[in-house]
Amino acid sequence: MSSSLLVVGQAATFWLPPNASTFAASHDALFYFIYYLCIIFFIGIVGATGYFAWAYRRKSEDQVTSNIRGSHKIEIAWSVIPSIFLIAIFVWGFQGFMDMSNPPGNAVEIRVTGQKWFWNFTYPNGGNDTTLTVPANTPVRLTMSSTDVLHSFYVPAFRIKRDVIPNRYTVLWFEAQPGRYPIFCTEYCGKDHSNMNTYVNVVPQEEYAEYMAGLGGCADGETLAECGEAVYNRAGCAGCHSVDGAANTGPTFQGLYGANRPFADGTSAEADDNYLRQSIMDPMSQIVQGYQPVMPGNYAQQLNEEQVNALIDYIRSLGN
Ligand code: CUA
Repeated sequence: MSSSLLVVGQAATFWLPPNASTFAASHDALFYFIYYLCIIFFIGIVGATGYFAWAYRRKSEDQVTSNIRGSHKIEIAWSVIPSIFLIAIFVWGFQGFMDMSNPPGNAVEIRVTGQKWFWNFTYPNGGNDTTLTVPANTPVRLTMSSTDVLHSFYVPAFRIKRDVIPNRYTVLWFEAQPGRYPIFCTEYCGKDHSNMNTYVNVVPQEEYAEYMAGLGGCADGETLAECGEAVYNRAGCAGCHSVDGAANTGPTFQGLYGANRPFADGTSAEADDNYLRQSIMDPMSQIVQGYQPVMPGNYAQQLNEEQVNALIDYIRSLGN
C-alpha cells in the first residue's frame, strides 16, 4: 500500500475511480487493506491446500492414512489471528461510517429529490436544477428523499452512497475537490433506472454563488422561451418529454401547443395556456390517451410563476 493513497485528488486507477473527497483516502486505505489481506489469505490457504493434497497423496495401494489427532495450538492460532483482523476492520470501518453519518454543523445544505427517472436538487435560495453544483473544499450536506420509489444516490469519486427513500430523509455529506464527477442511481427503480444519471460540478466558491443567483428566475437579455428552455432542462421535464416529436414516458412537446388532446377518460381539450398550466401544476387531472399517470405532482411547489410562464412560452415556441 503506497502512501499516495492518502492524498485527496488522486486520479483514477485500474481498481478505483478518481479520489475527489476527503473521505476517499481513508475509504481507499481500508479497501486496499481488505484487498491485500484477501490476496495473502487466498494464496496461503489455497497454496497450503494444494501443497498438502500433493505431499500427502496416496502413494501406494497398501498405504494406511496417518492417525491425526488435531492440534489445539493451530486451532487457536487460526481462530484468534483472523478475529484480530476482523475486529480491526470493524473498528476502522465503523469510524468511517460515523464520520460519514455526521455532517459538520456549518455544512451547505442542498435537498435532493429522487423521482422516476431523474434527480432534482433544491438549493438554499429555493432554486432547482437536475445537475448538482457545489462549492469546492466546503462541507456539503445532502438531505435526500424520494417522491415515488426507492432510489440510491451514488458518487463513486466521493466514495459516498445512500438509499433515497419515500416519506423519510436520509443524509450524506462530503467535502470535494474541483471537477465534474458522475452521479448514479444504484437502486433498481423501473424502466429508466439505467438513465438516472447526472453530474456533480464542484466549483470555486465565487462560481457557486454566481450559479445559485442564476437559478431563481430568468436572466437579463434572455427571451421568455430561452428561459423556459433552461427550466425544461433544470426541472427535469427533459427526462420524459422530448422536443423533437419522439414519444417517451410522456408526450412530446413538439407541436403540442394548440393541438387537440384526447384524454384517457374519453374527453378532450385544446392545449392552450391554461391546459398547459394545469398539466404542469396538477398532472393527474388530465391524462392523455396512451400514457401512464406517472408525472410527479410536486411542480406546483418547485416552480415559481415566472418559470411556469417561461416553460409555456418555450412549449409554444416548439410549434403547433
Ligand atoms: Cu432511481 Cu434507479
